[in-house]
Amino acid sequence: MKRIGMLTSGGDCQALNAAMRGVVKALVNAAEEVEIYGFLEGYKGLIYGNYRMLTGADFSGILTKGGTILGSSRTPFKTIQEPDENGLNKVEEMKHNYYKLNLNCLVILGGNGTHKTANLLREEGLNVVTLPKTIDNDLWGTDMTFGFQSAVNIATDCIDCIHTTAASHGRVFIVEVMGHKVGWLTLNAGIAGGADIILIPEIPYDIDKIVEAIDRRSKRGSKFTILAVAEGAISKQDAKLSKKEYKEKMKNYKYPSVSYELAEQIKEKTGQDVRVTVPGHTQRGGSPCPYDRVFASRLGSEAGNLILKGEYGFMVGIKNREIIKVPLEDVAGKLKMVSPDASIVQEAKMLGISFGD
Ligand code: F6P
Repeated sequence: MKRIGMLTSGGDCQALNAAMRGVVKALVNAAEEVEIYGFLEGYKGLIYGNYRMLTGADFSGILTKGGTILGSSRTPFKTIQEPDENGLNKVEEMKHNYYKLNLNCLVILGGNGTHKTANLLREEGLNVVTLPKTIDNDLWGTDMTFGFQSAVNIATDCIDCIHTTAASHGRVFIVEVMGHKVGWLTLNAGIAGGADIILIPEIPYDIDKIVEAIDRRSKRGSKFTILAVAEGAISKQDAKLSKKEYKEKMKNYKYPSVSYELAEQIKEKTGQDVRVTVPGHTQRGGSPCPYDRVFASRLGSEAGNLILKGEYGFMVGIKNREIIKVPLEDVAGKLKMVSPDASIVQEAKMLGISFGD
């Protein structure tokens, strides 16, 4: 008999349910008797003992369902070791609930912040297996996170739709893509959607290079230009600022996001009409794409396998198309960024895509 606690933490994404279903199916099909405790709204559920017992019925019909049946919330790592407003020690409460329920293991699905806390719980002696979720694809130790491909599809659809209207109107269009501090989502959706200019945080931009790229297109007779801009895109000047200076500058920032600042600058320098589209949280919504359903199911299945073998303290990921396990201490606190020298960036440049550098 295995007693498993499960939780989904941080921003949601597609295929969280598919991954949890994979874990449970793998355990049940191995004829292992299991009790599943689902902690609600991420680490909050584990801290405050807010959980419900899940049965087979909870995992039926959820392969294709977006969101998470457990709910999620953000509990930043820096706050996890601070007492709550009533003086409760959150780490001790999580341990207490784990031991009270006599759990064999916690299955934690999350991104970067979630993995830091998962590793802390491992250091505190709890058995933990994690699964890498995030549309940002920025988790170290795995080539891919689930949710990413589904989000690429949505951001690409958005750029595709902009393409038809851009061609009719002859404007400059900016599509702002999520991804937090990394450019994986923008890079992939930008290439897939045929964007002319792709701006990502890892390659700071020069506004004059962007203008040159737009002018080049106009001179060649192209009526429109499409920019895929990562929400974390940054100019060369800003990239030179220290963290403190940048924070100070952002206090008086008058734009809702970088895309609006770029739009103003492009309009001023080219005289062309500019429009901004922000698909925002739609990129995390809806049904997981087939790739993510398969991928999350494979990850869940391997997590089940690790639990059956009693191997804990790992994130299940993928390397060179093979499902692997990575020690949690290696994953926690590291970001996987796009290298400006990566072959995908060089290939995109050879296709004529400008990175504004
Ligand atoms: O980490 C996933 C993500 O969607 C990022 O791409 C984005 O920056 C952030 O979450 C948005 O967070 P929230 O849902 O808290 O607004």
